Formats: sequence, structure tokens, C-alpha cells
Amino acid sequence: MGERKKPRGYIGVLIVMVVLGGLALALVLTYGKQFGIGPVGAVSTKYADALKVAMHFFDVQKSGKLVNNKISWRGDSALEDGRDANLDLSKGMYDAGDHMKFGFPMAFTATVLSWAILEYGDNMESLNQLQPAKDSLKWITDYLVNAHPKHNELYIQVGDPVADHECWDRPEDMTEKRPLTKVTTSKPGSDVVAETAAAMASASLVFKSSNSKYSSLLLGHAEDLFSFANEHRGTYSKNIPGVQSYYNSTGYGDELLWAASWLYHATKDSTYLEFVTGEDGKDYANWGTPTWFSWDDKLPGTHVLLSRVSFFGPEDASDMENISEYRKTAEVIMCSLLPDSPSATASRTQGGLLWVSKWHALQQPVASAFLAVLFSDYMLSSGTSKLECDSESFSPSDLREFAISQVDYVLGDNPMKMSYLVGYSEKYPQYVHHRGASIPADATTDCKNGWKWLESDKPNPNVATGALVGGPSESDKYVDSRNNSMQGEPSTYNSAVFVGLLSGLVSSSSVPKTFK
Ligand SMILES: *[C@@H]1O[C@H](CO)[C@@H](O)[C@H](O)[C@H]1NC(C)=O
Ligand SMILES: *[C@@H]1O[C@H](CO)[C@@H](O)[C@H](O)[C@H]1NC(C)=O
Ligand SMILES: *[C@@H]1O[C@H](CO)[C@@H](O)[C@H](O)[C@H]1NC(C)=O
Repeated sequence: MGERKKPRGYIGVLIVMVVLGGLALALVLTYGKQFGIGPVGAVSTKYADALKVAMHFFDVQKSGKLVNNKISWRGDSALEDGRDANLDLSKGMYDAGDHMKFGFPMAFTATVLSWAILEYGDNMESLNQLQPAKDSLKWITDYLVNAHPKHNELYIQVGDPVADHECWDRPEDMTEKRPLTKVTTSKPGSDVVAETAAAMASASLVFKSSNSKYSSLLLGHAEDLFSFANEHRGTYSKNIPGVQSYYNSTGYGDELLWAASWLYHATKDSTYLEFVTGEDGKDYANWGTPTWFSWDDKLPGTHVLLSRVSFFGPEDASDMENISEYRKTAEVIMCSLLPDSPSATASRTQGGLLWVSKWHALQQPVASAFLAVLFSDYMLSSGTSKLECDSESFSPSDLREFAISQVDYVLGDNPMKMSYLVGYSEKYPQYVHHRGASIPADATTDCKNGWKWLESDKPNPNVATGALVGGPSESDKYVDSRNNSMQGEPSTYNSAVFVGLLSGLVSSSSVPKTFK
């Protein structure tokens, strides 16, 4: 990413900037408290504490031979994964409360975690969370590297979801077969392959300065995977119908654009920008239409990521025809999120939570809030003071305030008066739908005899610290029951988004920088 745009004027601009700067400081000092924003640089202990809790969930979900394991009730598991193909697929993370390793959402987890580290790594570092975040990211990318043993071949799943879901056991005691699923040129999957390319391209930026050899390895995989995804187009869930009941992809156009956007940032190669602004952009970017950022829909993330080019240049890139369409669409999305905007979405609960789906309801609010914090910081860093939504205009702090409203809801400021982040505050879900958490570590369980632990009316014996549960109903209600997988099952990908969101709110001085 190149230099930020420089002001074109001279002394007049300087005076205006000094006056505006003073005004902004005065505003922060006057209203900072009210908006939950402290003096510049202040650390919010609330979000810092929540971030430290949320980060644990990646350790809860790790598969393979554990290193420096911090979770007392977790141990080594799935050590033989990949052996059927002579590969080591033991690492990676379990998807949710079960023991599947689904490549599509797992790669998304890595992409989002990379993005969080790239933008807010300084905030993480100030809380000693940067190294753990990078370790968790690498736990996934090590797996992804091994899952891509050759050109035009990517393993996208370990485990049989039907067989897996017939068991209730600890990952450490798992005995069910762990079949492998791959995409190839005869059964392509541009969505899962491009998401994996996005994960590796973004992670290559994360490791660029600390481990340049690994960074180059990741970038090589990313470029090769992008050409596989692009040249052999297909939807993985059409070609492998068995995944439809789990992570059914609505299409691959969004992932192609998302991957190209990450590859542009990782390589500065303008052919990737030509890709997103040309025919494929026209066909798939859905300019002007807001959608919800999720494991399936990467368009909102793509709009915000590419708005960076518009905000910060370099000029030859930000001047490209159609690149501004992404920023404009990001603005449409932001306008739909702001509750007082004329185009505000009506999809909200009485308690103020964005609410789109009864399954894993927290996904859209936390993912949207993460994008709002990013966009707010891009505006601040580029000196953009106003966001126009029809006749009304809004400021970066309005976006931040919206994000804070969603986080505060999740952390306990809600009608149930409970935290939906396990391990945070006095009251949080005790019956999380999570096999490992529900079974005592010293119990001897197998596939079948573990079901008694699902059925038990006692709270989970192990705390799945950092789990962000599915979330409340449209009427802000939550039923804390272990079999309530709709509301009570956490997922690794939602944790990644939540970690990104919290790390953006930890400090009020977050200034996104050029990705180096
Ligand atoms: C998966 O998505 C496709 C395309 O959107 C749809 O036609 C199909 O019915 C979905 N399958 C399931 C099981 O929901
Ligand atoms: C920009 O997008 C339009 C369609 O929206 C398309 O016709 C045009 O070719 C694109 N421009 C470039 C430079 O690709
Ligand atoms: C748990 O929920 C599933 C799906 O709704 C149902 O089939 C099963 O019988 C329930 N089990 C218990 C113990 O309630």
C-alpha cells in the first residue's frame, strides 16, 4: 500500500487543519466520556479485558499436537488427520462445538484474524496479545499450507459431518473416521479456494517483517490458489453437495474479489486491481447494494478493504476507474448500520442489536461493527470528517458509537443482563453447546456414551473461555440450554470477527497504517 494522499493546498490548508485539529481535540475532551472514548491513546480496560478473554477461544479450538497449551481440559487430538493422503493435516481449528475442520469458514477465520492484526496489532501488542494472535493465525495457516500439496488441488475438509454429528465425545478421545475432501479441476470450488488465497495473502502481510521466509511461502500459495480459483470456476457446494447442510456457498464471485483485493495489498501488483475494477467487479461486486458480512458473503469486507485504496492511495490506484465504487458501496453499508441514518436498516431488536438471523444471531452485528470501526478509523486517518447519508451527515465517532453499542450489548448491556462472551463478567452462558466443554476431562467417553453429557442438566464442567455464543432471539431472549445449538453454539470464525472488533476499540488512538 502506498503513501497516504497529501494535502494539495499550502498555508491555508495548514491553518484549517490546525483549527480542525483543535476542534477535534476539544470535541474528544468534551464528549469523549459520553461516547466511551477516552483521551487520545487511553486504553479502555473494559474492551481490553474482553479481548483477553475472547482470544482464549482459539486455544480451545486447536487441533493437533498442542504447544504451550493454556487450556487445562484440552490435550492433543486428531494427530492422524491427513494420513490417508500422506499429509499432516493435524493442525487447524475445530469449527464450533463439534470436531469438523471445515476449510471454508476456517480460511475466513484466518483472513479476518490477519486483518485484525494488520490494523490493530499495536493495540494487541500493548496488551501482550499480539504474539498469541499471530500464533493462532499460524496454527491455521500451517494447516492450509499442508492442505495445498500441489497446483490445482486443495483439501477443504477433514471429517465426515454426518458421522461426526452422531457422536458426542471429546476431541482427545475421538475414534470416528476422518475422511478427507478435496477440490480439483474436475470438482472445483472457487469460493473455498479463493477464501484460502485471501487467508494466505493477508497472513503473508502479517508475517512479512517477523518471518519473511514464511511470508513468502504463504504468498506463493496465495497466488497459486488464486489462479486455480479464477481459471477453474465453480461453486464448491454444487460440486460437493455433502457440504450444503453445513456451509453452503451462495457463489464464488465475492471470494474472487476479496482474494484479489488481499493479493493487491500483499503484492501491490495492479493486475489484481484491474481484476476487481473490470468485468469481474461489474459482474460480482454488486456496487451500491448493502449486504451482511459473513463466512458466506465477503462483499462488505471487500468494499471496506478496497475503500482503503480510495482513502490512502497510491494515487494511480485510487484514480482507477471503478475503484471509487467500492468506497461508495462501503458508505452505503455504513449508512445502513447507523441507527439514525435515513437509510438505517430496520433489522434491529428492541434492545438495539442488529438482528438478521435466528441462527448465530451475533454474527451480523459483530461483523458489521468490526467494519464500522475500520471505516471510522479510515475516515479519521484520512481527515475525512463527514459521511453523507442522503440528507444527513455523520462523523467517524457516530460509526464508532454504533460499534460500541453492539459490543456493549454483547458484553452485558442487554435485556437479559448477561454477557454472551463466555468467561466475561458475572453472568454468561453455562450450557454452551460445545462437546469438549461439556465433558469432564477425566471421563472416558467414546462416540456414543458421551451423549449423557449433552443431556445432563448440570452446567458445563469446563469453561469454554472466549466462546462467543450464537446469540439472542429477535426479542432479545436467550435460552441457556446445551442442546440449543441455534443460540448456544460458538464458532471460531465469529470469534475472529469479535477479536478484530474488540482490538479496534481497545484504544481510542487507533490510526490504521499502511500495510507493510
Ligand atoms: C445451497 O445453496 C444453493 C444455491 O443458493 C441452493 O440452491 C440449495 O438449495 C442450498 N442447499 C441447501 C441444503 O440449503
Ligand atoms: C467499470 O465498470 C463498468 C460497469 O459498471 C464497465 O463497463 C467498465 O468497463 C469498467 N471500467 C474498467 C476500466 O474496467
Ligand atoms: C437435541 O436437539 C436435536 C435437534 O433439535 C434433537 O433431535 C434431539 O432430540 C435433542 N436432544 C435432547 C437430548 O434434547
